[in-house]
Amino acid sequence: MSIFKDSTILITGGTGSWGQELTAQLLRDHNPKEIRIFSRNELKQVEMKHSFNDPRLKFIIGDVRDIKRLSISMRGCDFVFHMAALKHVPVCEENPDEAVKTNVLGTQNVIEAAINNDVKKVVDVSTDKAVDPLNLYGVTKACGEKLVIAANKETDKTVFVCVRGGNVMGSNGSVIPLFRRQLETTNVLTITDKRMTRFIFSLSDAIRLVLKSTVDSVGGEVFVMKMPSSTIMDLAEVIKEELGNEDTKIEFIGIRPGEKLDEVLVSRYEAMDRVVDAGDFFIILPFLDLPETLEHYKDKPRVKMEEFNSRNTKILDKHELKDLLKKNGFLDPIFDYKEVFSNLTKEQLERITKNDKWVI
Ligand SMILES: NC(=O)c1ccc[n+]([C@@H]2O[C@H](COP(=O)([O-])OP(=O)(O)OC[C@H]3O[C@@H](n4cnc5c(N)ncnc54)[C@H](OP(=O)(O)O)[C@@H]3O)[C@@H](O)[C@H]2O)c1
Repeated sequence: MSIFKDSTILITGGTGSWGQELTAQLLRDHNPKEIRIFSRNELKQVEMKHSFNDPRLKFIIGDVRDIKRLSISMRGCDFVFHMAALKHVPVCEENPDEAVKTNVLGTQNVIEAAINNDVKKVVDVSTDKAVDPLNLYGVTKACGEKLVIAANKETDKTVFVCVRGGNVMGSNGSVIPLFRRQLETTNVLTITDKRMTRFIFSLSDAIRLVLKSTVDSVGGEVFVMKMPSSTIMDLAEVIKEELGNEDTKIEFIGIRPGEKLDEVLVSRYEAMDRVVDAGDFFIILPFLDLPETLEHYKDKPRVKMEEFNSRNTKILDKHELKDLLKKNGFLDPIFDYKEVFSNLTKEQLERITKNDKWVI
């Protein structure tokens, strides 16, 4: 039986790409009693309410910076998924204090509110950008991970765990919607550096793994999703071949500050002696002294690897990439851009893609 059956769940950032898919899978497969969607923008909540039309959903306007609101909202909760974040690299670079307030202080507020309410389990969703971070977004998410893992020392009642994933296809602000929009407007696909690789995964698979890690975790682990990757060049070429025309161009605009050639999901240091292979995941055991967790994994062999990155994982070839894109609807002639690009004019789009304003 599902651990979520008849449970009460709160999702911070529940109106975002990940939050909506999580909500859909929980409602479809796990029969929870109630899911509380916690976020700031009322329009996104109203739209989500209409599209889901499910009485088990409750919508709460709130900001993770507001611990009082979080504490009230978590009353009677069994599980909390923490997905609220400022996640656009350039936005975080340009508004560092805001990024710290939401991603770091907000995460600490989630922890304290969960402890105050004896929540059973808190799952923090983190990113490859948090590993050896080069930009402030990554730094804030790395701080979030540290706070969440350390919270296991503060209470016996609440279990805290992190799950780290790389890019999912088509999430708000990601490169596939950008390419599709560029095809319709400038007919030029912009690439910063042709050597670049990125993890690539479907949102539904990522959420399936978030739920699996929630079930499997005992507290203090970082679950790392094993994801394949692709070169950004292959991605652009597949999109050009499938959806472009003879005039479609690929333009190189140069690597930008805060951007890596390859993304890393398990760092060299983490990989040294504390990683367990668990099928769909690598599990990074805590650096902190959490005896019950270490006891739980004591018989599991440690993995020997240098690091896990988007170059040494499986790199999809163009056929596999095309199949994956097709299967997930990204090559359909009509495409829903979600809110990020839908209202941009041609001029705004050019500004974003040419003036160092976009990092995937
Ligand atoms: N997208 C990816 O490929 C990817 C990969 C790895 C990890 N992640 C992580 O997964 C999580 C979700 O990403 P996503 O792609 O779903 O992001 P998203 O679509 O941009 O959604 C972000 C959500 O957070 C909410 N939010 C932002 N600031 C908030 C605040 N101060 N208080 C309360 N809610 C707030 C937003 O709603 P309002 O603006 O209405 O508040 C929205 O619901 C993030 O933590 C991200 O770091 C994403």
